[in-house]
Amino acid sequence: MDKKKTIEMMHSLKIFSGNANKDLAVKICDYLNVPLGDATAERFPDGEINIKVNEDVRGSDVFLIQPTCPPVNENLTELLIFIDCFRRASSARITAVIPYFGYARKDRKDEGRVPITAKLVSNLITEAGADRVITMDLHAAQIQGFFDIPVDHLLSFPVISNYYESLNIPDLVVVSPDVGGIKTARHYSEKLKIKLAIVDKRRVGPAETEVGFVIGDVKDKNVVIVDDMIATGGSIVQAANTLKEKGAKDIYVGATHPLLCGSAVEKFKTAPIKEFAVTDTIPLTENAKSLGDKIKILSIDKLLGESIRRTHLNESISSMFNDAK
Ligand code: R5P
Repeated sequence: MDKKKTIEMMHSLKIFSGNANKDLAVKICDYLNVPLGDATAERFPDGEINIKVNEDVRGSDVFLIQPTCPPVNENLTELLIFIDCFRRASSARITAVIPYFGYARKDRKDEGRVPITAKLVSNLITEAGADRVITMDLHAAQIQGFFDIPVDHLLSFPVISNYYESLNIPDLVVVSPDVGGIKTARHYSEKLKIKLAIVDKRRVGPAETEVGFVIGDVKDKNVVIVDDMIATGGSIVQAANTLKEKGAKDIYVGATHPLLCGSAVEKFKTAPIKEFAVTDTIPLTENAKSLGDKIKILSIDKLLGESIRRTHLNESISSMFNDAK
């Protein structure tokens, strides 16, 4: 595409942010060299959300950056109201950029009388007026199919794997903390040319897991556990304890979404884990900052910025993840 056309197209690109992760939105705008759209998301005295977009978006290609991280219900509702606002203001296209997609755990009826919230939230986003979605490391990749609009499912893998490649840790083994994470761990194993091990985790309640044994050799090896999210930290800490029992040396963790809720931070202070590398899909809580050097933030700003640029210019996104096929 010639430069003049690219510049013309970039003109109609507008990026807005709700309150969930403005720092990330600013970094994305820096990467794309566009200003952050002018909008306010405040509260009425009774707590209702009051949104106002303060610039013209008629005919624009709008990208709204809003992960649905805690406070989940506030952030989700802001997302929906923003989309409605852009639709009524005649935007040409609205892309909901949801770096962390909350309410994803319930993606099927695994027992009687439970909802499928991942489907409900997908319906709400579509019904509000989103034309497409960009998201990252969904809790279950099949959630893409809950939308009848295009979904670009990005992976943090290039960012986290580059980091571990740069550390050049000897005798490193990548560990999946459960059977569901094997595919992701295999990507790391192939890219970093290291062996793979699996921790056998069983869920015994919404916030409780039980760890059994390790498949693969971790004795006298350094290990990196890779996971999509850390919520209560139970899975990671139990996996780390089991790996230590099996003779692992230094334990690292690479995870995309650092929810770090409940007593996760306290658990991590004493866990046998050398360092956590997490991304900025969601902001780190004040409490989590007390982990100091034990937590390393890797930004996915360029990855998201580049995906937005490519979406806007109708260029391929999947080619950004050739290493993860
Ligand atoms: C499980 O399937 C996920 O990949 C994470 O391991 C899990 O959701 C993390 O939750 P928690 O930190 O509460 O154990």
